[in-house]
Amino acid sequence: MNKILLFCDPGIDDSLAIMYALLHPDLDVVGIVSSYGNVPQEQATNNVAYLLKLAGREDIPLIGGAKGPLSGEITVYYPEIHGPEGLGPIRPPETIVGELLNYNRVFEIIEQYKGELTIVEIGRMTSLAIAFILGEEHMKKVKDYFIMGGAFLVPGNVTPVAEANFYGDPIAANLVLSKATNVTIIPLNVTTEAIVTSEVVDYITQFQFNPFTPLIEPIFEFYADAYVELVPGLNGAPMHDVLTLSAVTNRDLVQYVMRPVTVQILAETRGQSVTDFRPGWEPEPTDVLRRVALELNYQFFVHDFVEVMTKSLRD
Ligand code: BDR
Ligand code: CA
Repeated sequence: MNKILLFCDPGIDDSLAIMYALLHPDLDVVGIVSSYGNVPQEQATNNVAYLLKLAGREDIPLIGGAKGPLSGEITVYYPEIHGPEGLGPIRPPETIVGELLNYNRVFEIIEQYKGELTIVEIGRMTSLAIAFILGEEHMKKVKDYFIMGGAFLVPGNVTPVAEANFYGDPIAANLVLSKATNVTIIPLNVTTEAIVTSEVVDYITQFQFNPFTPLIEPIFEFYADAYVELVPGLNGAPMHDVLTLSAVTNRDLVQYVMRPVTVQILAETRGQSVTDFRPGWEPEPTDVLRRVALELNYQFFVHDFVEVMTKSLRD
């Protein structure tokens, strides 16, 4: 069983990723850090709290993450993609207000599961960077990191070269990549291929398989309508964050290369993920190599997504 501490900013694909993680029989979510990103942190928190309540998993610690990037800039949100509240047309009941635990709980969880904890980061990396600033000695006890971010030699999704999570706080992304060990990066190269179609959604919502089923179709349709504006002709919508969680348990899902990775911080290249793909490249002795996912086994992804999203919570 993979112990997961999830950093997120729900957000539609984050919400689907939370559902996926809570339904997955091999993923044990031992904490969730909610941060700003797709929506303000308060809204992200209420969305997490709503999903935990639907699942009857209010026992999972919900920890308050960052409300803005390390630079102190004003954050730009994306209601046109994720909806005004972050769940497309769905608004969590007003009675649900996420009660946040102090950030120190992150370190308590790392100590509790030392050597076996996987941190999965599917949002802006500010909160995770803060963990390295506040408690680097604890971070050495994390088993590994799976990070959704970056775009390698493919177009970005917020600028010509930058992916949203790295762009949202490039200082934090660079800080984490300079300090974390055993890092797997799941970039746009593979996540833009992880398309779920309306047909798949029809299939996974044909019966009420679990408490999330009624939410899936409306939030997916909102997200897919937004994506077709961004990528004309796209038949479905990319599950960036689901794919990142799926990679934790499925070794055959994507193919990786090992490379050192940095993130550009300034000007037109802000948020760009950089490595060396020249044919004769060899690592320098000082290079810290990251596993970078470059190719997706699409059939495997869809099959796994359908299987997990149609589980009942008791499977
Ligand atoms: C990433 O940015 C966010 O908007 C999504 O939730 C995902 O984590 C994709 O670039
Ligand atoms: Ca996200």
